[in-house]
Amino acid sequence: MKKHAGQDKLAWWREAKFGLFIHWGLYALAAGNWKGQEVQSVGEWIMKRAAIPVREYELLAGQFNPVKFNAKEWVDLAVAAGMKYIVITAKHHDGFAMFRSACSGYNIVDATPYRRDPMAELAEACGRGGIKLCFYYSHFQDWHHPDAFGNDWDYPDAAGKDFDRYIREKALPQMRELLTQYGPIGLIWYDTPGEITEEQSRQFASVIRELQPDCLINSRVGHGFYDYISTGDNAVPARVFEADWEIPATLNHTWGFKENDHNWKDAGELIRLLVNINGKGGNYLLNVGPRADGTIPEPSVRLLQEVGRWVKTNGEAIYGTIAGPEFPYELAWGDVTHKPGKLFLHIFNWRAAFVLFGLCNRVTRAYLLADSNTHVTVVQHPTNASQAMHRMQVYLPQVQPDPIATVVVLEYEGELAVDRLQA
Ligand code: GLC
Repeated sequence: MKKHAGQDKLAWWREAKFGLFIHWGLYALAAGNWKGQEVQSVGEWIMKRAAIPVREYELLAGQFNPVKFNAKEWVDLAVAAGMKYIVITAKHHDGFAMFRSACSGYNIVDATPYRRDPMAELAEACGRGGIKLCFYYSHFQDWHHPDAFGNDWDYPDAAGKDFDRYIREKALPQMRELLTQYGPIGLIWYDTPGEITEEQSRQFASVIRELQPDCLINSRVGHGFYDYISTGDNAVPARVFEADWEIPATLNHTWGFKENDHNWKDAGELIRLLVNINGKGGNYLLNVGPRADGTIPEPSVRLLQEVGRWVKTNGEAIYGTIAGPEFPYELAWGDVTHKPGKLFLHIFNWRAAFVLFGLCNRVTRAYLLADSNTHVTVVQHPTNASQAMHRMQVYLPQVQPDPIATVVVLEYEGELAVDRLQA
């Protein structure tokens, strides 16, 4: 089976650069606490960390009634943030399906008073909002099914488990439901492949290739049957990474809602992360953890709206950018993103002037992205004996237009070339 996507299948994803991750499930009811005690773990792992018996945990389903869920509001927030796709947990490690599933009664339509299918509503809202709908599916861990991996407190006899029966009875039938009930799906985001075998990974890739050939697969499917790489959680590559990759990341310290996790990043850090990740060639998949009532925590909303205001002005320096370049010296003033013919200098630390080392190309025009009538003066010096590389002095306007990041556009001639440090 072909392991990696053709270039065209990835085109929308390479253009997108920025997506919304949504972790939403029964764990939002627990909100990080169990029997009056806060459980030290990410919110969506509470069943495992507190070793909650299936018979107790599944009682949450009877209380799950997200009457304030509004798919259009969620899609509008993603659009306002400048995000181009949504990856939502269709089934997380706890085994509960947040979608209509004929093959397991442990799902939001059949097992909760809500009785609606939020994935169907989200699919419709994404279609209207021009956002790609994508699903997260935990294919290896399922703490509800006796044959799946992960629940060793209700099902301690690992040798007695028949993982292929879990795949046959639940996981693959649910993948078929996700790939046939909700229209075109942008990508499937598998998670924690653990000790899954190559043949089992192949099955989880094959069902996608069979039903939705244009649907992308992330690397956590296992055994290389992927179209792009998911890095570690909140793990930004240290250098430019010339591959198709995406980083899953949180706004605080949890994926699923926890009422006591107030460790919010600020908009400046998020924007600098977006630029740094895009500059290294990656997509930024930034997470929200909605409450059990279907609302998204206000700090998450505010942060995404603030990031969106910046992206709205500076989106040309984000969407469709490609990896690199890697300049020879640290950029004390900020960071860089790139499209052929244009370098975007993201100035985080404003100053009167700075020197950019290493750009060999002739700059034909330099201006502020937010106001192309504001010219930026650059003076280029060819390589010489003392410096052994090209230098360019950049003189910035007196007033810093954007307190978080102001983008200077350098239009250049020819194929991009950057000096390297020579030993
Ligand atoms: C880890 C966690 C999982 C979360 C994922 C997001 O795999 O186990 O709960 O969904 O990271 O990247």
